[in-house]
Amino acid sequence: MNKSFQVHDKFFHRAKKEGYRARSAYKLKEIQSKFNVIEKGDFVVDLGAAPGSFMQVIIELIGSEGAVIGIDLQEIETFDQANVYSLKRDIYDKDLLMQDLKSVGFTNIDVLTSDLAPKTSGIKDIDQARSVELTDQAFYLATRLLKTGGNFIGKVFEGEDFPWLLRRVKKRFKKVKVFKPSACRSRSCETYIVGLSFNS
Ligand SMILES: C[S@@+](CC[C@H](N)C(=O)[O-])C[C@H]1O[C@@H](n2cnc3c(N)ncnc32)[C@H](O)[C@@H]1O
Repeated sequence: MNKSFQVHDKFFHRAKKEGYRARSAYKLKEIQSKFNVIEKGDFVVDLGAAPGSFMQVIIELIGSEGAVIGIDLQEIETFDQANVYSLKRDIYDKDLLMQDLKSVGFTNIDVLTSDLAPKTSGIKDIDQARSVELTDQAFYLATRLLKTGGNFIGKVFEGEDFPWLLRRVKKRFKKVKVFKPSACRSRSCETYIVGLSFNS
């Protein structure tokens, strides 16, 4: 059997068994155990959040004193916890989005996570360029929302524009790492930029 399908099976079945909405949960868990991005009590904005598996991991990490808001073009199935919000919104509607976030107290936040992905066309260069564009928008929102010392995680498909985006992120964070969790399919070109300690 092809190795990438074994990886898919392993994380897909594990997510089902452990009650996570998607395999992406394990990507965030791996990033968290390596870089300790999210702490108890943090306020977190999660972009590209549907169906909500990053949010499930974030809820475990922040506890009841923190809060998380998930944002996606698609509806996110509700959570029971009072400190969990979700919003159906396009991240390019930035004025509306900033207004919504302000109204629920998500300004000066601790962490912004982005697992945004474009609808893939199957044409590698186009998909990579769209992914870099989306993650650049996530990075822009991070620069508007994060407090000094805050952290950023952004998924991106590696390609021609990737070094450009990485250079931009490096200018605004003390430490920047590029990390591909083992829960990513081995044939996929997706990776994560982790920005630690924002310079506002
Ligand atoms: C890989 S999925 C996210 C999985 C999610 N992080 C989880 O753990 O369950 C990528 C998401 O990005 C969302 N997305 C893509 N473009 C978007 C945009 N312009 N605004 C908001 N969400 C967008 C898609 O709707 C999709 O749900």
